[in-house]
Amino acid sequence: MAKVLVGVSGGVAAYKAVEFVRLAVLAGHSVRVIQTPASLRFVGRATFSAITGAPVLVSEFESDPSRGCWPGEELPEHAPISHLALVENADVFVVAPATANLISRVAAGSSDELVSAAVLAANCRVLVAPAMNNRMWENPATVANVATLRERGITVLEPGEGQLASHGEAGKGRLIEPRELLAELDSAGGRSDFRGVRVLVTAGGTREAIDPVRFIGNRSSGRMGAALANAAASRGAEVTIICANSSIPTSSDVKVINVVSAAELGDACDQQFPNCDLLLMAAAVADFIPTAAADQKIKKSEGVPTIGLTASPDILAGLAGERRADQTVIGFAAEHGGDPLANARTKLKSKQLDALVLNDVSVADIGFESEENLVTFISADQELELARGPKLDVAHSILDQIKILGTNPQKG
Ligand code: C5P
Repeated sequence: MAKVLVGVSGGVAAYKAVEFVRLAVLAGHSVRVIQTPASLRFVGRATFSAITGAPVLVSEFESDPSRGCWPGEELPEHAPISHLALVENADVFVVAPATANLISRVAAGSSDELVSAAVLAANCRVLVAPAMNNRMWENPATVANVATLRERGITVLEPGEGQLASHGEAGKGRLIEPRELLAELDSAGGRSDFRGVRVLVTAGGTREAIDPVRFIGNRSSGRMGAALANAAASRGAEVTIICANSSIPTSSDVKVINVVSAAELGDACDQQFPNCDLLLMAAAVADFIPTAAADQKIKKSEGVPTIGLTASPDILAGLAGERRADQTVIGFAAEHGGDPLANARTKLKSKQLDALVLNDVSVADIGFESEENLVTFISADQELELARGPKLDVAHSILDQIKILGTNPQKG
C-alpha cells in the first residue's frame, strides 16, 4: 500500500475529497493531507485529521507535528521543511479537487502556498483531479495550463460530466467520483516499481546536414520519449534522456543530453548505454544520411543539386547486439503502409530486441506531433494493443508491459 499525500484546494468538491481520503484509508493506504487556505472555507482540517490520524497542514510556515512522516513511522530528530519532506516521502501526490486557480498556479511554477509549493517540489507521481465550472474548464487559459502540466509529467485526470455546483448548470468539470479517483490512485500504484532502475531514453528526430542551413529531418516531436522519461522518473527510475532536436520539457530529475544528428545520437548512446538497465529507443533516427554535407550553403543559382545518400548505421541493433545479459532493450517503430505487424515482428527479431512498440502512423490523429498515441506492444510471445490515450498514459502502459515481460529491470 502506498504513502499518499492529498492536496485539497478551495472548491465545493472538497467535500468529495473527504470521501476519497476515507476510501483510500479503508483500502489500506497511509494518507496525509495538506490544504490551501481557501479550501478551509469548504472543509475544516479536523475532518481530514480525524480520518487520516495525522496532522493536516495549511501553511508552509507552520511546523509539522509529524515531521514529514506518515502514521506509524519513526520521526526524525530534525524538523524538516514540510513542503519538501512530504513530497519526498510520498509515493503519490493526489491534488483533489484542483481548482482552475490552483492549476494555473502550478502551470506558472508558483509556490505561494503549501499545496502548489509541494507540487513544485514533487519528485513522486502527481495526479491532479480538476473540479470547476464547465466554462472555466473549457477556457483556453485552463486548456493551456492543463497541457503544460501534462507535458511536465503530471497526470491530469479528466473531470466528470454532469450537474455542477452552480444551480441549474451542467457540463464537464465535476471532480471525478471518489471511487474512480481511488482506482486512478491504485493504477498509479503509489508506484516506486522502477526505483533503482537506470533508464536510458532516446527521443525526437535526428537532422542530417545537407549544407550549413538545410537538413534532412523527420516529423518526430519527442513527445513520446519525453512521456516515457517522465513516467519512468515518477516511478522511481534514474532517467537519462538523449533528445534529438526536441524541446518538450521533462521533469527536473531527468538528465537531458541534447544531440542533433544520428552520429551524435550514436555517440551519446555508446557513452550512456553501459550505465543503463533499460533502453527505450524512441528516437526517430535517420536511415539515410547525405554522403557529404556541403561546407557552404548550396546556391540556388547553381541549379538543382544531386544529394547522394548513404545508409546510416542502425544504432539500436548495434547496442542490442552488444548488450549485457542484465540489460533490457526496447525498440520503437513508426510504420506507415504495408503490413505493420509483420514488419514490426521482423524488426523485433533482426534487431534482437526484448520488445518493440509499434506505432501505426497511418492512423489519423495519433503518433507524430500529436498529444495522443495508440501503440501495440510486441514481444516474442504476444502482441498487445494498449489503450489509446495521452502519451503519458501510454508511456505508463508501456512500462507496465516491460515489467510483465519479466526481463531485467525488476529491482523493486
Ligand atoms: O528500422 P526502423 O527504423 O523502423 O526501426 C526503428 C527503431 O530502430 C527505433 O527504435 C529507432 O530508434 C531505431 N533506429 C536506430 N538507428 C537507425 C534507425 C532506427 O537505432 N539508424
